[in-house]
Order: sequence, then C-alpha cells, then structure tokens
Amino acid sequence: MRVLGIETSCDETGVAIYDTARPGADGLLAHAVYSQVALHAEYGGVVPELASRDHVRKLVPLVRQTLAEAMMGVGDLDGVAYTAGPGLVGALLVGAGVARSLAWALDLPAIGVHHMEGHLLAPLMEHDAVLGPPAPPFVALLVSGGHTQLVAVEAIGRYRLLGETLDDAAGEAFDKTAKLMGLPYPGGPQLAALAVQGRPGAYRFSRPMTDRPGLDFSFSGLKTQVMLAWRGSDQSDATRADIARGFEDAVVETLAIKCARALDAAGCEVLVVAGGVGANRRLRATLQEMAARRGGRVCFPPPELCTDNGAMIAFAGALRLAAGQRGDARVHVTPRWDMATLPTLAARDAASS
Ligand code: KG4
Ligand code: ZN
Repeated sequence: MRVLGIETSCDETGVAIYDTARPGADGLLAHAVYSQVALHAEYGGVVPELASRDHVRKLVPLVRQTLAEAMMGVGDLDGVAYTAGPGLVGALLVGAGVARSLAWALDLPAIGVHHMEGHLLAPLMEHDAVLGPPAPPFVALLVSGGHTQLVAVEAIGRYRLLGETLDDAAGEAFDKTAKLMGLPYPGGPQLAALAVQGRPGAYRFSRPMTDRPGLDFSFSGLKTQVMLAWRGSDQSDATRADIARGFEDAVVETLAIKCARALDAAGCEVLVVAGGVGANRRLRATLQEMAARRGGRVCFPPPELCTDNGAMIAFAGALRLAAGQRGDARVHVTPRWDMATLPTLAARDAASS
C-alpha cells in the first residue's frame, strides 16, 4: 500500500509517501518538509493565522514535488493519511481539507493520524540490521515543543501514560531559555549548539522532581533559575555558553533519570525516543549510555525525522490503513486529542501490514 502522508499541525508543512510493501526505512519513497521558521521568527513564536495561510500556499506544491521525487502520479496512491490533531485548528484543517479532497476525488481510503502517535512510531521505520525494528512492549519518551510524556506502549494503539510535564514541555523550556539569553527563535537547536562550547559544571542547575518518586516532569522552575543566573552574570558569550551547557545537562540528566525509572516501572528494557528534542545530541548520547549500562536498547529516529515531518504521518497512517481502519469522509480535526482513546491495532494486523 502506497500512502501519502500530510503533516500541517504547527509550523512545518510535511509531505511523504510510504510503501508498506518495503521493510522499514526503505518504504519511505520520498519526503519533503517546508519549515515556516523564517515567517514566525520576527514574532518570537508561531502565529496561528500566518501558519494556516502558509500551509495553504505550500501544501499542494509540496504534494506535487513529493510525487515527482517518488516518480509517481496521484493514480499510483493507495491511501491518504493526515494529521488530525493535536495541533493548531486552522493549520490542521488545511491538511485535513487537502487530504480528504484528494481521497474523495481519487476514491481512496483516508485516515486522520494522531500527531504524537506519528512521532512515537517514527523510530519503528528504522531497521537495525541485527535487531530489527523495536516492537511493543516498550517505553516511549515523547519530547517535543508541546509535549513531554513517558508512555508505556503495550501494542500499537494501546498507550498508557506513565508521566508528563506539569508545566513547560522540554522543547518549550529550551526555546524559552534560549530566548531569555537573547538567542533568536526557535532557540532549542541554537542553545544546544552553544552548549557544546560551554564548560561542564561551570553552572549547575537543579534536576527538577528527581528527588521524589514519580514520573512527572516540571521544567518551568529551571527556566527561572537560568534567568536569575543570566541576569546576575557578565552576559558574555563565554558565560552564555556555560549557562547553556548547565541548562542542557540539567534537562538531559532529568530526562535520563525518569526514563530509567519508567523502564523499571514498565518492566521492560526497550526505550524509544521521539519528538524534536530527540534530535539533541547530548540526550541521544546520555540515553545510549544508560541503555548500555542496563543491558537494554534505545531507539531514535534519524534527527530529521525527530522534528515534525510527513514521513511519520505516512508511516503511522499506512499501518492503520493496511490493517483496514478508515476514517469517515468528513473534514474533521481534533485540536485536543488524548492518545489513550486511539483504537488498538491487533498484533496480527500490524505484522501483516
Ligand atoms: O516535534 P517538534 O518538531 O514539534 C512539536 O511537535 O512541538 O519539536 C520542536 C521542539 C522545539 O521546541 C525545538 O526547540 C526542539 O524541539 N528541538 C531541540 C533540538 N532540535 C529541536 N531541542 C534541543 N536540542 C535540539 N537539538
Ligand atoms: Zn511534533
């Protein structure tokens, strides 16, 4: 089944084609992402109305480009998947409208995909030559600009929330911390790049909520600690790098401690990491070390599939469409959507897709 995937939940227009007849990453026939970062930069954050309008401008040309890259015409498609939520309602509606219209005109099955399920399943596209793709049960750490969650994945579609942030998401904390030290939007990746030049231990911030049991997170206090340190410093480039390093170490260590606890709680040794912050090099290295120490395994998507993209939506949608699931023909989105309400994909269906 060759499935077109469309992602428009926030400020990235993503389009991809995934072919279920090919294993793992080989199934990804083409994918393209257009980032609106430059459009929103002068406002210091995403402006929802501008995001919707830019998706309208970019989506159809990107669908054409992706089909051309895969050397396919619309007639070669077998299904359409699109992000139906969570996300910005106007932005979601652009993707849903185009996806549903294409499916209706071509008489194809279509399905609305949960954005976080897309992130969560993206690492399953990678196939380790020896170990193969990770299979449930496993623990997923979802770390993006909007979410920080630990989820027990009991089957594809059966997700049990183990813990989540009580305030800022990890990516949001990266972005806000970067902003308060004068870095341009979106600051997360820039703060991470700066941290490489910082001296470890020059600044030490707390590891929030690691001193008590539980799997929830809180990052907003950390941001305040950084603000106080920055304001009380000489604000030189070297100090900015040292503080960035201290902040990154605090976030990464906190995430690693909670991941280890979540693996203990779930009684398994496979950790899957997804979402934009999953592109962070120090997080990847620290979680690899933790998994090696425990004799377990940690799986990441390639960095470009950590941030928002159409490939993860094509892949997650293809699994569900190949298992026979369908949405109805309405253009309908769910800006707030609990992952626990998703239908479970039977192991038999997932294996045969
Ligand atoms: O998953 P994503 O593309 O969008 C959401 O669904 O939110 O994640 C974007 C978030 C942003 O907050 C961005 O700053 C953060 O991921 N991010 C990073 C890195 N790359 C992206 N944070 C830390 N280090 C990075 N290398
Ligand atoms: Zn995302």
